[in-house]
Amino acid sequence: MHALIDRLTQPPHTARRHPQATGPDVASAEPSHDAHSEPKITVEAADFYYGDKQALFNINLTVPQHKVTAFIGPSGCGKSTLLRCFNRLNDLVEESRLVGTIRLDGRDIHDPSVDVTDLRTKVGMVFQKVNPFPKSVYQNVAYGPQLKGIRRRARLDDIVETSLQGAGLWEEVKDRLHHSALGLSGGQQQRLCIARALAVNPEVLLMDEPCSALDPISTAKIEELLHALKSHLTVVIVTHNMQQAARISDFTGFFLMGELIEYDGTKEIFTNPSDRRTEDYVTGRFG
Ligand SMILES: Nc1ncnc2c1ncn2[C@@H]1O[C@H](COP(=O)(O)OP(=O)(O)OP(=O)(O)O)[C@@H](O)[C@H]1O
Ligand SMILES: [Mg+2]
Repeated sequence: MHALIDRLTQPPHTARRHPQATGPDVASAEPSHDAHSEPKITVEAADFYYGDKQALFNINLTVPQHKVTAFIGPSGCGKSTLLRCFNRLNDLVEESRLVGTIRLDGRDIHDPSVDVTDLRTKVGMVFQKVNPFPKSVYQNVAYGPQLKGIRRRARLDDIVETSLQGAGLWEEVKDRLHHSALGLSGGQQQRLCIARALAVNPEVLLMDEPCSALDPISTAKIEELLHALKSHLTVVIVTHNMQQAARISDFTGFFLMGELIEYDGTKEIFTNPSDRRTEDYVTGRFG
């Protein structure tokens, strides 16, 4: 455990201001002088159902802006389900149902005035299974901006370069932009998927176990990226890797069987959790 603690990132100075499983009043607990700690996503009394099966139970949490928030917990505890609620990807699952409210910048994402495509542009997603399109590196990144109506070649070139740089991939692919993306290594393909998500200029990046199929060097590159990205993005990452959660996140939520057991600054979760079940999980006693 000590090695793990030693590698913890410094706790954000706001850490203890996120009490366990807090409700909407968390927002008012945020220090008003720190713009970077404004709530980006707020979940209020959320229950989620797949048909008759309830997958999330009364979730309350605030994802702070320009921070990395990690969701941890054993398989099947609802991490991906909650992540998919944030950009309404679960809308695509038949007979699924959310009760409660999820807000982005204070606005209910299920409000009839919300355009779902616009929401998914603002709240991008990177999946566990790398999924580049069977097209060139360039076309993978340019696809989203083109869908948004950007046609000028110079503008697209610029977006492709900036996005690939943002994903830490530019130097490795700048000479093969027009080669198939499927010829890249797994780690490069995952960074390409990150570049593709960045190309539409999202405000939030949801990452569902983005490193689980990657080698340690590719994983380290993605972790470095997250540090750089959070200066202008809010990141929510699901990971089964405790060391990774400890290294990269500012806040951590521990889930168990659809419930958010504890949510706090990452250092508190890993060194001084308030719930015995969290302690058992982060020390590897179960899960
Ligand atoms: N499309 C679906 N239809 C029905 N049930 C689902 C569906 N997706 C997930 N579930 C169920 O909801 C519960 C939560 O699943 P979820 O995928 O959110 O868990 P998870 O914490 O991401 O797990 P893992 O760590 O294995 O990815 C599980 O019991 C799962 O079987
Ligand atoms: Mg999952």
